[in-house]
Amino acid sequence: MDEKQKIIKEHKNLINQIKKHNKYYFSEDNPKISDSNYDKLKKKLIEFEKKYSFLKSHGSVSEIVGSTPSNKFKKINHLIPMLSLANAFDKNDMEDFLKKISNFLNFKDKQIELFTEPKIDGISATLIYERGVLTKGLSRGDGVIGEDILENLKTISEIPKIIKGDQIPDLLEIRCEIFISKNDFQKINKKFANPRNAAGGSLRQKNPKETAKIPLKYYAYGLGAVKPMLFSSQSDFLKKINQWGFSTNSLSKKVIGLQEVEREHKKIDDIRSGLNYDIDGLVYKVNDLKLQQRLGNTSNSPRWAIAYKFSAEKAVTIIKDISIQVGRTGAITPVAKVEPVTVGGVVVSNATLHNEDEIKRKDIRIGDTIKIQRAGDVIPQVVSVDFSKRNKSSKKFSFPSKCLCGSHTKKEFSKSTKKEDAVRRCVKGYECKYIAKEKLKHVVSKEAFNIEGLGKKVVDQLWDLELIKEPSDIFNLNYKKIIELEGWGDLSIKNLKNAIEKSKNISLEKFIFSIGIRHIGQENAKILSSFFISIKEFSKLFDNKLRKEILKNLIELDGIGETQIEAIDNFFSKQTNIKITKNLLNNLNILSYTTKSKNGVFSNKKIMFTGGFENMSRSEAKSLAEKNGGKVLGSLSKKLDYLIVGDSKPTRRKVDQAKELKIRIISEKEWNKILNS
Ligand code: IVH
Repeated sequence: MDEKQKIIKEHKNLINQIKKHNKYYFSEDNPKISDSNYDKLKKKLIEFEKKYSFLKSHGSVSEIVGSTPSNKFKKINHLIPMLSLANAFDKNDMEDFLKKISNFLNFKDKQIELFTEPKIDGISATLIYERGVLTKGLSRGDGVIGEDILENLKTISEIPKIIKGDQIPDLLEIRCEIFISKNDFQKINKKFANPRNAAGGSLRQKNPKETAKIPLKYYAYGLGAVKPMLFSSQSDFLKKINQWGFSTNSLSKKVIGLQEVEREHKKIDDIRSGLNYDIDGLVYKVNDLKLQQRLGNTSNSPRWAIAYKFSAEKAVTIIKDISIQVGRTGAITPVAKVEPVTVGGVVVSNATLHNEDEIKRKDIRIGDTIKIQRAGDVIPQVVSVDFSKRNKSSKKFSFPSKCLCGSHTKKEFSKSTKKEDAVRRCVKGYECKYIAKEKLKHVVSKEAFNIEGLGKKVVDQLWDLELIKEPSDIFNLNYKKIIELEGWGDLSIKNLKNAIEKSKNISLEKFIFSIGIRHIGQENAKILSSFFISIKEFSKLFDNKLRKEILKNLIELDGIGETQIEAIDNFFSKQTNIKITKNLLNNLNILSYTTKSKNGVFSNKKIMFTGGFENMSRSEAKSLAEKNGGKVLGSLSKKLDYLIVGDSKPTRRKVDQAKELKIRIISEKEWNKILNS
């Protein structure tokens, strides 16, 4: 064994020791060594990784801590889901955001007042006050279900436990970001790579006394549930809660128009390094809460807010090699293996090169000195080559025409852009083992089956040992073999079993999303589930003849186009896909689609629009129809209940056809009246 191998072995040994003690401490609540000895182990690991840069760094020891399945906190449903934010990276993105909201609201040239706040890089939490008393405190969790971390939050002295003031709502939910100041981070012993990890680690302590040892702070930024509603705008809300004793960020302010947005962004970016807390951008929110409500949400994020990120952190390094990776849609992505380098506190050793055109365009070669950047959680990217440093030994990368599985690849033709796709894809599906493995990771992901304890790394591990090959195997795991593996114990097996059992009850929408049909993301899966309603109906797609008939009807769905229909047809015309889907179904209980607001004025009615409205955009009209229980179709058929005719340029032919079919026609005036009733 040479020196390097010895070091690698010792490194692995250290990690295993830490993992073992994590399990004793976190999962089994039965520590076998003292806190200070545990800290020594962690410190040793960090120093080791610093000293030998060739070791694959874990970024921070907290990553290892975080790998323990969390079963220590009680799960509680959020009163209102905690969504995430869409990102903007430059002026163009912000211009798009402004255009989109003003189109949705049909505001034409009228400017919309925004409120901007620093985006604190911490951990989100929500505080619930009943009659002014703090009664619940939850972590974000998966956004729908959070964890009860009330006792830990209570240790933060600045968080009001009782609100004093006038007119306190009976129910008040305050969304906030928990963080550690940069100063305090310097003072606490360096167990963590950055303040954010430290805040996360501290908040997730089982024992609140441990949380109390780390000086956590918070800023309130949002309103969750409230009764009665007393606020008119985001600025008004923050002002009032600040008077009631909540910490709010003083760098927040009202802005109007792209110019002010840009100016504010630059101003805060300039003072950013001098602030005593980490921020990674500014959040811009529509200030008026009524407008926020009109804008509503997409499946993951509100339409009324955006995170405008600061420019990414960059670093210079050398490309050691280029390899390819295969994604779940078969996309072949070139990846640069680089000399490890720290970017924004994290050691980076891989960076994406996107596709073969990008390599050609930037003339990127193996051996080149390059600049890489890393922004937020996105995969680090290669930005540019320093040609002055290129030497003769640099080597061009010849992009393989075959997938890693040996099969043929091709570039698809996009019907919507009428162009050939830049991405090359493996033509196989589950038959390609590289795709299959990625598909499995998608199946267990948060947005699909959401199986806690079965993350990407575990899927890799179980796949490599041939313990899972296709999704249905997840429900028939050989636990006897798993328990023998490094890192698994009785408790983690028990938790995994529970999580898998729980995931068997899955909504039709999530199920459709999980099987990974191309072009069917979360939003389209939702539309499809509202069309099929039950798994029985959806399963008719397995039959070639029935499928062709059903697909003809899908075109009437607003949001589903030719591309999606073709993708569904392709998916189910492959026998392997049908077999794998059926095998999976044998293990599940699929919950039929239910409309949330069954009692709305348009409850279970099929609606179509033609013509424009004076006061609202088509998108808002659609979202209102849906909020009121209606289903919006994209084409006219006998099944339609109402044709809503806007005053501006309705299609005559549609109106005539609707009359012929005896479909009820609703004028713009009537539509407004119905909505206001
Ligand atoms: S508003 C519906 N405002 O960023 C989501 N979020 O990426 C509304 N965050 O989960 C979020 N500072 O944890 C908002 N001033 C701020 C924020 C902020 C930090 C975090 C928050 C959220 C995440 C979204």
